[in-house]
Amino acid sequence: MALKNSTESWGRLSKLFHWLTAALIFIQIPLGFYAKSLGLSPLKIDVFVWHKSVGMLVLLLVVARLLWRIKNSIPAPLTSNRLHLMLASGVHGMLYVLMLALPLSGWLTASASMFPTKLFWLIPLPALVSPDSATKTLAADIHSACVYITIAVLLLHISAALWHHFVARDSALKRMWF
Ligand code: HEM
Ligand code: HEM
Repeated sequence: MALKNSTESWGRLSKLFHWLTAALIFIQIPLGFYAKSLGLSPLKIDVFVWHKSVGMLVLLLVVARLLWRIKNSIPAPLTSNRLHLMLASGVHGMLYVLMLALPLSGWLTASASMFPTKLFWLIPLPALVSPDSATKTLAADIHSACVYITIAVLLLHISAALWHHFVARDSALKRMWF
């Protein structure tokens, strides 16, 4: 399997980026809700350190993934239907925007709150803004809205992948799998 994308299939690196970010986001959503639900305790602080660390890792991965995508050609679409093509690129574009907006809004929330964080207990998370409770509330609302929009767009994305595999029976899912 080639490292780069071909006209028929995604390359090894694009597949790795796709499934690694997907897995981390599937962990991040329940982890975020769990962290928020806990009462103030050392456990809450630890769970938030994990949440912020994994979230910043997602940001790094997405930036690397976008650079790799810009430098590569992508597999040919499996349909020539204009509406279908527009829907697919719209959903994929939204997912890229959300994969950036989620960690950035989280980072802003963390910066505006009073809790300095060390990512993976090692690297201090630089603050984007100085602590301020109105900014924190606004950023947390944006972070939360991004979460619900992501869940809705992902339901569409996953349904489309299953539709391709089981109904249209084309290679869409296979060419993104290893
Ligand atoms: C069970 C979960 C998932 C399945 C089955 C799945 C399936 C797929 C498939 C088959 C493609 C290839 C589409 C094509 O070749 O045109 C794809 C592309 C894509 N997926 Fe997923 N996906 C999943 C989860 C996710 C998650 C969690 C995200 C991010 C939040 C995501 C973001 C994307 C993006 C942005 C693309 C477009 C890639 C590009 O054009 O560079 N996927 N997915
Ligand atoms: C990869 C992306 C991320 C996802 C999917 C995600 C998901 C979530 C979820 C589901 C919640 C609970 C939301 C709610 O109760 O409405 C949450 C809360 C939170 N997240 Fe994230 N998050 C991500 C990245 C980050 C990053 C990078 C940081 C900080 C560096 C962060 C900081 C926070 C904070 C501080 C809260 C609590 C907000 C509040 O007090 O309402 N998140 N996140």
